[in-house]
Amino acid sequence: MIDTLEYTNKHELVFLDQTLLPLKEKYVSVKDYKDVIDAIISLKIRGAPLIGIAAAYGVVMGVHCFKSENRKNFEIHFYKIIESFRHSRPTARNLFYALDRMLKVFEENRDKEFEQIEELLLREADAIYDEDAEMCNRIGVNGAELIGEKMNILTHCNTGELATGGIGTALGIIATAKKQGKDLFVYVDETRPLMQGARLTTFELDKLDIEYDLIIDSMAANLMKEAQVDCVIVGADRIASNGDVVNKVGSYSLAVNCAYHKIPFYVAAPGSTIDFEIEFGDEIKIEERDSTEVTRIKGERITDDDVPVMNPAFDLVPANLVTAIITEYKVHYPPYNFGGLKHMFSSYIQALRKDESEVEE
Ligand code: MRU
Repeated sequence: MIDTLEYTNKHELVFLDQTLLPLKEKYVSVKDYKDVIDAIISLKIRGAPLIGIAAAYGVVMGVHCFKSENRKNFEIHFYKIIESFRHSRPTARNLFYALDRMLKVFEENRDKEFEQIEELLLREADAIYDEDAEMCNRIGVNGAELIGEKMNILTHCNTGELATGGIGTALGIIATAKKQGKDLFVYVDETRPLMQGARLTTFELDKLDIEYDLIIDSMAANLMKEAQVDCVIVGADRIASNGDVVNKVGSYSLAVNCAYHKIPFYVAAPGSTIDFEIEFGDEIKIEERDSTEVTRIKGERITDDDVPVMNPAFDLVPANLVTAIITEYKVHYPPYNFGGLKHMFSSYIQALRKDESEVEE
């Protein structure tokens, strides 16, 4: 297991700096919520579910650092923290999901002592973390049903322990299928420009003892043509109610190539990644990132710095190219109609908490 992130009893967030992996395994410890925001923006902490978890602890840290008895200022301070996190990575649905839960706890308890509010917020952040781990386990089991006894799977970006509170989504399925004794081989897209596949997914596959080849992104279509890919599994940053998926840039091109070569294109994500408020994927804001991510490699310029660059972090895969979406509930097939899922999602979370309190009793 990788210790990706932990909130300590010293009110610090300790996390593995993912920008340095796999060459350096360096843990960073921060006390100021603004440093958590910086870590999210700079991708030291990344992956939609993990971003949400880190932001939830960041809110707790922001509240902990408030040093005054003035309730009005406390409230202003709280809303400012929430707003600052909302702007950090605008596409990741889990970020907004986590912040909305923190906001709800605050608003339901705003008249309590500051210390009590902090304690309740911490409990909520812990719950978001634990629930994500449990959702990953269930996604793993549900998704592993789609994996045959011997399969070559292609994946993009990083969707494992480094990106979530548990075993991961797409990578969690691969890990679960391997545990079940299936004979798997993984093709890992390097994932330009920040190389999450090359740097992070290979790091995780080594730990899982799963065989793989690292490939350049533009090689995927040719591998499919040569019948070397049985399925593609990716994660998601946000999913619309109609099943449109926004994920790491390059996902659309994989989905188009899968359709052409008649290969299943699967998406794995927890219910907390589905944006029930929006119907279609084109309503999702795609984060545009700094041009230097493209013009430089490890800080070294490969072009003039002033060359014009387009650098969207994500792209949109229309629902009609998605063979199935694997959540913690089940494998969903098109036409996607998550229907009662929204309701099921909230009751499911309540059920998880009930299970926990029964265990404690
Ligand atoms: O920019 P990143 O590295 O945060 O992008 C991550 C992805 O696109 C993942 O596929 C997605 O967040 C799902 S992680 C379980």
